[in-house]
Amino acid sequence: MPGVPDPGPEEIAAAVAVLRRGGLVAFPTETVYGLGADATDVDALARLYAVKGRPTDHPVIVHLADAAALADWAAAVPDAARRLADACWPGPLTLVLRRRDRVPDAVTGGRPTVGLRVPDQPVALALLRAFGGGIAAPSANRFGRVSPTTAADVRADLGADVDCVLDGGPCRVGVESTIVDCTGPEPVIARVGGVPRERIEAVLGHPVSVQDRGAIAAPGTLPAHYAPRARVHLVAAGPGAPAPDPGAFPGVGPGVDPVGLAHRLLGTGRRVGVLALVVPAGLPDAVEILAPPADADEYARVVYARLREADARGLDDLLVVAPPAVGLGAAVADRLTRAAAAGADDPT
Ligand code: TXA
Ligand code: MG
Repeated sequence: MPGVPDPGPEEIAAAVAVLRRGGLVAFPTETVYGLGADATDVDALARLYAVKGRPTDHPVIVHLADAAALADWAAAVPDAARRLADACWPGPLTLVLRRRDRVPDAVTGGRPTVGLRVPDQPVALALLRAFGGGIAAPSANRFGRVSPTTAADVRADLGADVDCVLDGGPCRVGVESTIVDCTGPEPVIARVGGVPRERIEAVLGHPVSVQDRGAIAAPGTLPAHYAPRARVHLVAAGPGAPAPDPGAFPGVGPGVDPVGLAHRLLGTGRRVGVLALVVPAGLPDAVEILAPPADADEYARVVYARLREADARGLDDLLVVAPPAVGLGAAVADRLTRAAAAGADDPT
């Protein structure tokens, strides 16, 4: 694609050298940018946690070049996991499997399981192939903040704390991978993400449940996460807009009346913006409209950029209408719900 940055073999080799000496490399994936470290180097992992500002009992995903490397990390690969890997890798799917003993506790947060994924992004795959091992990588943002979808986002958030940033242009999917826990009697979706639930169910041939949020203490599953500085409010869709389906994703309700809320917030001198597929009718003129995505897939691609834009504009409050919770819309609704929960206790 013209205009898309394409790190060449020399840049990839330099990044591999950074990983080998225990450094941190930020790299693009199809979902969000990752902050990578050698998954077998406990000192590098300690630095990774320190830079993220993340509690050390939270596991990180190990990225692999291909499914053949599964056996190096997983003690057992159940049939369902094998089918999902065959159907979805490379792609935005993370499998949680029983780990092999060699996987450091620093990767798994001391759990008996490990999260594994093969990303579908040429720069990520070039890096993984050249490195030849697993790269542990959480999203390349500080703990609790908005995930980065461009190299510039990474630099703005992590600055000099990252040794190398590979620029692969903006992320194609825009929300994190779907996590499927395959360690129990039935596969369970532990985080909705880039592979729609419908696709997981089609591959497995039966319904798959989404684990109750908060049931496992892990970043990305905490209720208050993915938050910009601006307070995020989930509001009702305007007339004519596709309604969120509250049944399809628990926690996404119809929200509150956007017009009344906008008047109340503006009345206290706050700056207010709105993000929606269809901007609700009747909003006061002072409400700043962030460019509406055309559909759920575009919403996923731009949602983090729009949350950052809200902060860059200096908005105090962002009214958001979640998309219908089907396809990638479910992941977008999930992230917006968490962003809204992050500000819920704030007295202002
Ligand atoms: O799309 C993605 O998954 C991105 C890119 C960089 O690959 N990565 C990402 O990583 O979102 P992070 O660290 O921000 O979120 C990882 C999620 C966390 O919710 C973590 O709890 C879960 O994966 N996870 C990792 N290993 C796990 C394990 N062994 N058991 C349960 N959950 C695990
Ligand atoms: Mg994250």
